[in-house]
Amino acid sequence: MTENNRFDVLVVGGGPGGYVCAIRASQLGMKVGLIDRSSRLGGTCLNVGCIPSKALLHSTEMYHQVKVDAKAHGIECEKVSHNLSAMMKRKDGVVNQLGKGVKTLVTKKGVQVFSGTAQLQGSGKVLVSGGKKELQLYAKEIILATGSAPVELKHIPYDGRIIVNSDQAIAFDEVPPKLVVIGGGAIGLEMACVWSRLGSEVTVIEFLPEICPQLDPEIAKATRKIFSNQGISFLTSTKVESAKVTKNHATLSISSHGTLTDIVADRALVAVGRKPYSEGLGLRDQGVKTDDRGRVLVDSSFSTNIPGIRAIGDLIPGPMLAHKAEEDGVACAEIIAGQAGHVDYNMVPGVIYTDPEVANIGLSESQAKERNIETKCGSFPMAGNGRAIATNATDGVVKIVADEKTDRIVGVQIVAHGASELIASVVAHMEYGGSAEDLARTVHAHPTLSESIKEAALSVDGRGLHSL
Ligand code: NAI
Repeated sequence: MTENNRFDVLVVGGGPGGYVCAIRASQLGMKVGLIDRSSRLGGTCLNVGCIPSKALLHSTEMYHQVKVDAKAHGIECEKVSHNLSAMMKRKDGVVNQLGKGVKTLVTKKGVQVFSGTAQLQGSGKVLVSGGKKELQLYAKEIILATGSAPVELKHIPYDGRIIVNSDQAIAFDEVPPKLVVIGGGAIGLEMACVWSRLGSEVTVIEFLPEICPQLDPEIAKATRKIFSNQGISFLTSTKVESAKVTKNHATLSISSHGTLTDIVADRALVAVGRKPYSEGLGLRDQGVKTDDRGRVLVDSSFSTNIPGIRAIGDLIPGPMLAHKAEEDGVACAEIIAGQAGHVDYNMVPGVIYTDPEVANIGLSESQAKERNIETKCGSFPMAGNGRAIATNATDGVVKIVADEKTDRIVGVQIVAHGASELIASVVAHMEYGGSAEDLARTVHAHPTLSESIKEAALSVDGRGLHSL
């Protein structure tokens, strides 16, 4: 062991959880090494997840607006067309730019980056291989942040061509005439919107009776109706039994309420969730405990059962979201530095970046009931908001769930254009234990979409001003 290969903290995995953790640990005066097998940091989020999908969602939203919505604004556009390869090139450029940015950021913050695959080698030791040369690194604290991978359905295995996961669905080289999306969650809906806007005939197959099971059933139903009106077909309570893949397409055998039918797809995207990714780390050899879903079990200080090994992000229980992983990373570094660190997973907003966007935080009405919390609710339709009418963004609704006794807000769901930004003020409000009354008395600028949040808060107490 030399001074060069000895660290206070070694972080394995350079996604949002890992690189943010490394930066924070470095800020706190620790000598930090960050290991990633990819030469481009940023993990799933930057390379094949949040960022490229948002680039495509924005490009296709613009295309859709020009092609479909512009006319209503008195804008005449003739012969509007898209150039898929240019769109993909722009997306790749965005990813490249951010990838370089993360590398610069991390390095300038004093973190030493190692390229290669990490393998745990017992207490305080990590072997890095596959890079320029094999390295043995040492640290008092090893933090695992290796993220997650798409779940595969065993009876419909990925072939990367016709049956694909989200990594491939953000990089099709042509618009599939018929796209089937298996799974009506965040990834499924975002990809359904991207390809539907570009001309695919999209069918979303959802196993449960309603899409987006994390949402309030009435909000999920309203969301499904909005996307149905945009041209996406939904088959709920439907199971894909098998898939027969030929050269150019797949025939999926689907069943619903005992009836079996076939559906043909040029591409089938499987988006039924993600699972923790820890291949090659050597968790089992080191005796690191995991649960039945492969999630690394940690205590409130992110420590595993093995001293000196901690884990954060998608690898551990909790919402599988980039911003949650970042918060884990910060808290973990601060705990190692002897500070207090905690992440309240009830305060982690979730967003689906479609148009309208779908954002939620805390508990839905039914989730609150399951926890025996008596609730009172208020909602407001975007169709009643002046700014929404002026900008042609009337699809959606805001629903606020408050505790019946204390009036404290326990959950909010927003379906609206720009809901990802609208939810931020609600998150802050809930973080400080705000009540529906507080929110209802907060001045919101007029005319803004955010007034719909104030109106929903007013209607919790039955005194909505702009709703009937
Ligand atoms: P998800 O858990 O959000 O949704 C999966 C959906 O597939 C659920 O509605 C589920 O009922 C359904 N499903 C499960 N098995 C099925 C089957 N055999 N047939 C048909 N339907 C089935 O998972 P998703 O969309 O793959 O996303 C994975 C993770 O990544 C999630 O934790 C999600 O929150 C996160 N993510 C978040 C994004 C965001 O915040 N914008 C974007 C992309 C992913």
